[in-house]
Amino acid sequence: MIQEPSATVHLGDAIAWLQTLDTASIDAVVTDPPYSSGGMVRGDRAGTTTKIKYTGDKANSEYADFSGDNRDQRGWGYWMTLWLSEALRVTKPGGVLVMFCDWRQLPTATDVIQSGGWVWRGLLPWIKPDSRPQLGRFTQNSEFVAWGSNGPMPFEGDCLPGYYLARAPRANEGRQHITQKPVDVLRSLVRIAPRGGLVIDPFTGSGTTGVACIHEGRRFAGCESVAAHHATALNRIAVARGQAVPDGLQGAFDLGEAS
Ligand SMILES: C[S@@+](CC[C@H](N)C(=O)[O-])C[C@H]1O[C@@H](n2cnc3c(N)ncnc32)[C@H](O)[C@@H]1O
Repeated sequence: MIQEPSATVHLGDAIAWLQTLDTASIDAVVTDPPYSSGGMVRGDRAGTTTKIKYTGDKANSEYADFSGDNRDQRGWGYWMTLWLSEALRVTKPGGVLVMFCDWRQLPTATDVIQSGGWVWRGLLPWIKPDSRPQLGRFTQNSEFVAWGSNGPMPFEGDCLPGYYLARAPRANEGRQHITQKPVDVLRSLVRIAPRGGLVIDPFTGSGTTGVACIHEGRRFAGCESVAAHHATALNRIAVARGQAVPDGLQGAFDLGEAS
């Protein structure tokens, strides 16, 4: 059972953590699991996340590695189904799953959402306008947010965008995780949960979903398996708590989303 304070982050394994949560107790799962797809060639998949896969120049990285990113396609699909099934159990009927993925894993991601028992409801492209064009190729400048629900869902709440146009956080802008997502995008995504509702992120990373929840008046519980990222998430959420504006004044923030 998740109690106050309204934002917590557990250090440990996502599936073990989900198993401790009550059935039908949360409003939305908003998460960004390891994609297990980074790199340009097959050998890159087995490399470290920060020194091989997500740094094109293979330079040393200032970021801590993150875990769970070395599965092959079948292993990833199987593991995704395991945690997605457990996430479904803890979600209220009509509650929502919102999950990042990339173009390589998109077909499997939408399969495992459904094999985990969720109703797949759609895709939101996250377009990164500063992606590098390549000669003779289409520019691959999007990641995707796949979403679904635990059975039928009501027509109520905010009207939300169908895509996002936002730069990924840059190193010189305080980025603390190699695959950190933009807070503005997460602020819009967590609004799929009702105000005051409980959002979970089993793969919290540096805590972006938690920061978004603080700003948007949603409760948050997360899990992260790497101690360095867990510490970063706790710190970012504490800072956000100090910056959060009172209920009803969130409109003062520029959500920075394309709608
Ligand atoms: C793609 S990153 C999330 C980044 C996050 N959205 C952010 O903005 O910082 C996925 C995170 O899940 C964590 N992770 C991987 N396997 C895990 C597991 N079994 N249980 C909990 N966390 C896990 C990784 O260490 C990594 O930090």
